[in-house]
Amino acid sequence: MSNLLVEMKNGVAHVTLNRPAARNALSKATNEELTELAAKLGGNQEVRAVALRGAGDKSFCAGADLKERKGVAPEETGPYVDAISGAINAWARIPQPTIAVVNGFAFGGGMELAIACDLRIASENAQFGLTEVRLGIMPGAGGTQRLPRLIGVANAKELILLGSRIDAARALRLGLVLDVVPYAELDARVGAMLSDLALCAPRSTCMAKRAIDRGIEVGIDEGLRIERDCYEVTLFTEDRNEGLRAFAEKRPPKYTGR
Ligand code: COA
Repeated sequence: MSNLLVEMKNGVAHVTLNRPAARNALSKATNEELTELAAKLGGNQEVRAVALRGAGDKSFCAGADLKERKGVAPEETGPYVDAISGAINAWARIPQPTIAVVNGFAFGGGMELAIACDLRIASENAQFGLTEVRLGIMPGAGGTQRLPRLIGVANAKELILLGSRIDAARALRLGLVLDVVPYAELDARVGAMLSDLALCAPRSTCMAKRAIDRGIEVGIDEGLRIERDCYEVTLFTEDRNEGLRAFAEKRPPKYTGR
């Protein structure tokens, strides 16, 4: 995969968008690789979590590749947009917890990719924006749907309708990111989060994620049924027994994901 770097470390897939000269913009090839990788990671039991960042110290992802798009024939534009939203939706459907490590600009599709992740940590130099309306288009890769769910309709409308760019401090106040740290401390902050995730039973985190993602889209009664179904999966795991045993024996549990 030439546009993505993937490194496995302690059960975590560290993925880097690797087009720093284009501020890690999403080209057609990058979208195809993201879609393929999401399916591959999602189906791999060894992967407990996924962390996504951009190469370099400037940009997480500058959105759709605007230079490439300029050359796309009008009749090809629809499939081109579908490829970006397909990649970002595939990313949102990864069953394991995903972290966006926003190490700089996250604009347009780049911000949509960040909000398709479960958790977001930003460096102080990060900037966010769904800038599409300033480019004569509109967010088309989940932005109009995921952002209001995340930060509320009023805040999302401000960002989307004005195409505003906001800094990391404002993103923190809006709840768009969980934490903002100096660039030099970003890896340590993400490492601490991954260490906490490593304390949790993998199947439990996946089922809890599924219950939240599916339950938020339906009424409370249906949501509670979804939660019960997800809980049921954890009931019959070795890790559940291990959790109870470890508690009784006053030792840290050793989870296997089974
Ligand atoms: N698509 C393709 N190339 C992009 C890009 C994008 N979305 N964003 C940046 N680049 C390219 C620039 O064209 C430039 O290429 P060049 O060196 O061949 O001229 C290179 O990346 C560096 O960009 P530059 O603007 O010089 O760097 P910067 O650090 O000053 O600013 C951004 C970076 C991201 C703030 C700025 O490029 C920008 O606003 N990009 C558009 C972001 C956007 O609105 N995205 C939404 C798309 S829907």
